[in-house]
Amino acid sequence: MRMRAAVLEQFGQPLVVQELDLAEPKAGEVLVRLVACGVCHTDMYTASGVDPSGYAPTVLGHEGAGVVEAIGDDVDSLQVGDHVVTLFSPQCRECVHCVSPKTNICLAIRDQQGKGHLPDGTTRLSRDGEPIRHFMGTSTFAEYTVMPQIALAKVSREAPLDRACLFACGLSTGLGAAMFTAKVQQGSTVVVFGAGMVGLGAVAGARLQGAERIVCVDLSDERLQMARHQGATDTLLGGSDTVQEILDMTGGFGADYTIEATGLVSVMRQAVESARMGWGLATMCGVAGKGETIAIVPRLLITGRRVAGSSFGGVKGRDQVPLLVQRYLDGDIDVDAFLSHRIGLDDVNSGFELMEAQDGIRSVIDFG
Ligand SMILES: NC(=O)c1ccc[n+]([C@@H]2O[C@H](COP(=O)([O-])OP(=O)(O)OC[C@H]3O[C@@H](n4cnc5c(N)ncnc54)[C@H](O)[C@@H]3O)[C@@H](O)[C@H]2O)c1
Ligand SMILES: [Zn+2]
Ligand SMILES: [Zn+2]
Repeated sequence: MRMRAAVLEQFGQPLVVQELDLAEPKAGEVLVRLVACGVCHTDMYTASGVDPSGYAPTVLGHEGAGVVEAIGDDVDSLQVGDHVVTLFSPQCRECVHCVSPKTNICLAIRDQQGKGHLPDGTTRLSRDGEPIRHFMGTSTFAEYTVMPQIALAKVSREAPLDRACLFACGLSTGLGAAMFTAKVQQGSTVVVFGAGMVGLGAVAGARLQGAERIVCVDLSDERLQMARHQGATDTLLGGSDTVQEILDMTGGFGADYTIEATGLVSVMRQAVESARMGWGLATMCGVAGKGETIAIVPRLLITGRRVAGSSFGGVKGRDQVPLLVQRYLDGDIDVDAFLSHRIGLDDVNSGFELMEAQDGIRSVIDFG
């Protein structure tokens, strides 16, 4: 079939919206008609050319939600008409990681996905007979996409897809960091560094876990206001005094949990240093620049602080994204507050500009 998609032709250049060919789903694959797709930092990072593993041409986009239009052979978990959220982090339910409750990092298709291929090593996207590679296994800046069934979460039909798409990346990452990686306990004190999509999700996740005190740190007053709306009890403007301020707020001890959502290694260090002696757990969500490292004084670790990393919030996508969407439908998470701008596919580059200007939390492409 023919369909319109936003193609990264050359690094550092605007995406070009154009018609491409999309082949039918093969065995285990599903054709999805996209209804909405968020614009995330990772798309912009890849478009800029800074990501050493990036490639072009490709169709960017990974925060998609849509409707199943057709299924290939051997697809047993989805039917035509199902509403789905795309998963750059799949869940095969069979690999050694999927059967362990300790991780959400599925091993089934990692290598092929990283190369821009579907699991059989080929692409469904092409132009004039030339294959075009998929991005993050999703390529959702497009009217349609073909993806393996293991990378699609079936969600309630009641959830508006322009809200559901935010669960495809940033929102689930933040919620999950608090709920599934840190497993924040009721009555505890949590500090969240960063109040973008991920940090605000972590604030909401800490609230859902019953945290008593939730401190959010950011550089923007406007974003800190949003953090209060999501459940932060205290806010701080970030800077070099942040660790001391948190120690002062917690009787000199630090927080039970800290969650980093900035991507800055200097802030990751603050997250470790403001975790409590004895049992404080510092969880890192941010993606740092290539080659950067975190400086940690080892004494902080032998006196009981722990450090964890969190990919996609530790969320096992097919099992848990539908549950998180249900919490939204139950009124537990105000997702509307994150949807700042609605744009058409043709305006995808303006979504990048809004993100660069920190105008709003998420721009969502509406495929109409
Ligand atoms: N682990 C994952 O699976 C995953 C998934 C999605 C995003 N991410 C990463 O998470 C990070 C956050 O993503 P986002 O979409 O929320 O980004 P964002 O840019 O919208 O938010 C980052 C926030 O950090 C704040 N900040 C900057 N310096 C600060 C400081 N010194 N102290 C406190 N706050 C500071 C900024 O003001 C901003 O509000 C990024 O690094 C992103 O790449 C990781
Ligand atoms: Zn993302
Ligand atoms: Zn797996």
